[in-house]
Formats: sequence, C-alpha cells, structure tokens
Amino acid sequence: MKILVLGSGAREHAIVEALLAEEAAHEITVAPGNAGIAARVETVSLDASNGRIVTQYALDNEIELVVVGPEAPLVAGVADALRAKGVPVFGPDKAAAALEGSKAFAKRIMEQAGVPTGRAIRTTSLDELNAALDELGAPHVVKADGLAAGKGVLVTDDRAAAIAHAEYYLQHGPVLVEEFLSGQEVSLFFLADGHDVVPLSPAQDYKRAHDGDEGPNTGGMGAYSPLPWLTDRWGAEAAFVDEVLDTIALPTVRALEAEGTPFVGLLYCGLIITDEGGPGGGAVRVIEFNARFGDPETQVVLPRLTTPLSQLLLAAATGTLARLPYPSFSDEAAVVVVLASEGYPENPVTGREITGLSEAAEVPGVTILHAGTAHSDGRFIATGGRVLGVVGRGDGFAAAREAAYTALGRIRLDGGQYRHDIAERVVR
Ligand code: AMP
Ligand code: GLY
Repeated sequence: MKILVLGSGAREHAIVEALLAEEAAHEITVAPGNAGIAARVETVSLDASNGRIVTQYALDNEIELVVVGPEAPLVAGVADALRAKGVPVFGPDKAAAALEGSKAFAKRIMEQAGVPTGRAIRTTSLDELNAALDELGAPHVVKADGLAAGKGVLVTDDRAAAIAHAEYYLQHGPVLVEEFLSGQEVSLFFLADGHDVVPLSPAQDYKRAHDGDEGPNTGGMGAYSPLPWLTDRWGAEAAFVDEVLDTIALPTVRALEAEGTPFVGLLYCGLIITDEGGPGGGAVRVIEFNARFGDPETQVVLPRLTTPLSQLLLAAATGTLARLPYPSFSDEAAVVVVLASEGYPENPVTGREITGLSEAAEVPGVTILHAGTAHSDGRFIATGGRVLGVVGRGDGFAAAREAAYTALGRIRLDGGQYRHDIAERVVR
C-alpha cells in the first residue's frame, strides 16, 4: 500500500517502524519527518497542516492511505480536505477533532453521552474564574479551552498561580476550572471508523518533567505498556478495556455520529482511576480526550501490536472495523524513556549534537525513535524539546528498563535530561 504519514515526532517514527515490521511491503512517505525517519523511509518537506497541499500531494502520488500523526493538521481541517477528494484518511474531520481542540466541546459531548468525568466550569472572565475556584476548591485544575501544546493545564494548590495562569489564557478564549481527580492515570487508545470502535492495549504516561512526578507538565517524558496493576484490579486487562469501551469510547463515538460529526481515527482516552470507593474500588473517569495517537504512549503500544497496523488503520479510514477481529498484543513489556533538551519544557536549548546513537542501538531489545532531530554534515543535531524516545523491550519490566537505560547511557547530548524512574513502579 502507498501510505503517507503526517508528522515529525517519535510517535510518527513508531508508526513507521510498525508499518515496516509488517509482512506486506508498503511504500511509505512521511511529511515532514525527522532525521531518524529519513534514515528509514522517504520524507518530503511539505506543510502538513495545509489541507490543499497535502491533498494535492496525495492525489499526485496515488496515496492509498493518509495517517495523520499530530493534532494540528486535524484541527486545521486536513482530514476534511483529503476526504472531500476521496482519499482514505486515518484522522477525524475538524468538527470531530474538536474533542481535543476544545475542552468545552469535549465536556459537552461527554455530558450528552453520559461519560464519567470530573465536574468542570467554563469561565470567560476573572470574576467567573474566582467564583469557580471557590466552588470547586483546592487543589485547583485550570485548563485553557483550546490547543496549547501541553502547556494549557495547571494543577496547583496555589490560588494566585491558578489565577495568573487563567489570566494569561483568558486573553485567548475560555478557561475551564475542573474538579481535581486523584488516582492512577491510564492512556487507552481506540480505533474508530465513525460508528464502531476497537481497543488497543493500555499504557501509562509520565507527564511531569522530573523524577518522582516533580516539575512542570510536559508533552510526556516516558511511558510503559502493558499495565500489570490493571490485571490485579480487574482480573484481566480485557475486563478493564471492555469497561472503558462500553462506558466511554463507544458512547462518545456514537454521540459524535448522532451529531453528524462522525469520528474516524484514533480516540485517545486519558483516564484516571480514582481512589474513591476504597481498596479494589475506584471509578474510571475521563481526564481528557485526544483525537490522535498519544506521544510517547504509542512508542510502547505499537511495538507490542502483533496485528498488521496498516489493516487496522485502513479499516478505520474506510468504515469497515466491524469486519476485523480485535487486534492482538504480545505479552512482552515495553518502556520508552524520552531524552529532552536542556531547558525543556520552558525554554529548550536546540542545535546541539547528539552522539552515541549507533552504540545505543546495539543494545538488544532497543529501538531508538527520533523526535526533534536533524541530520547535517554527517551529524545528528537536536532540534526540539523532546529529542529521542529510547524504547526497551523485554520479558518483564526489569529487562525492558535495563535495555532502555543502558542505551540511554551510551547517548550524549550536552544538557540532555531524562527521567530515571520510568516504569520503576511496575518492577517487582
Ligand atoms: P490534560 O492536558 O488535560 O491531560 O492534563 C495534563 C495533566 O494534568 C493530566 O495528565 C493530569 O496529570 C493533570 N490533570 C488534568 N486534569 C486533571 C484533574 N481534573 N484532576 C487532576 N489532575 C488533572
Ligand atoms: N502523552 C500525552 C499526549 O499525547 O497528549
């Protein structure tokens, strides 16, 4: 199949590796990609958020499937443009991508679909904000309504900080104040074809910059999959996944279908298993929806997928998911640790050389995925906040972690930072 992947991060690199691992040989192009992706498949430099340009490229090159990685092209309507010309695309239209693009829209759909989530109050002025902070109490959860590249959310006990954060984002649009939910977070992805949904395997993301969940929120500093503690609690991963499918994913996709804005692509359910209800209890609630594969969770979910990814994505894009058996996953453990530039997330320092990549790739069970990298004069250069995702796989989490951290120890990037505690909690 001729496949065009849009995006330039480690998530897109992981998608490419999963497609390359299939028995069927595909012709894969990535726009714009990065240095690691360019070492594996063809890359083209085009504006992935311009629907007209992407559609023209797809038609000229007889692309049979477009896979949209990041949210920006979705919110910009790139999938709409492709679909209008009959190009199969994995990724929702602009209207359905509002599930990620507008937190207020997401809350409305959840309410309509009866999906469990925290209370939220939409505010458009400082007076309304103060009233909402009073009503919901501390810790305060303050969220910008629109896309903010992971920076729009602040969770804090400090009321003045909550107000300052809201004051900034209120200049651009509404701000939501949410009920604080405490518990373990789970990312669970569903493929959706507008009507039916099919689950992948759960992962856990580490959102804070520093060890011990300290420091600012980031796009994600690491992840692991599967989640053995879900099995302890639900008896089997499948029981948990079925519950989320029945109470969250399917009702949401059906509510969007009923609104005339069918969701085709990846429904990312950002969940929290609340501590309420005592030991063994705990309700599953939605913290956020995204309209695309998670980054870095995809880097640990796709390596465990044993069903051909292209078949799943094409079936979602063409409305035929119901005809496929559920995807299957290997039992091996996968861990990804993100190497970030000095100063990430606030002010990442870019332009520095990365060395040791080939030595790192020699560690058994390791795959190095590129995020913000470029190749110049035979050297790899860090071009972004998140630079690499180092994936370790193994029989159990001790082996998977050992692989990932051994490889990281061989990579040099001045000022580079990574967390040392990814998946530590699941090593027994
Ligand atoms: P979001 O971008 O909505 O996923 O928020 C980023 C992170 O902030 C989440 O992964 C949580 O760790 C935290 N967060 C968001 N909403 C809440 C909430 N209602 N209660 C507690 N923590 C939250
Ligand atoms: N890892 C969080 C996200 O992809 O939004």
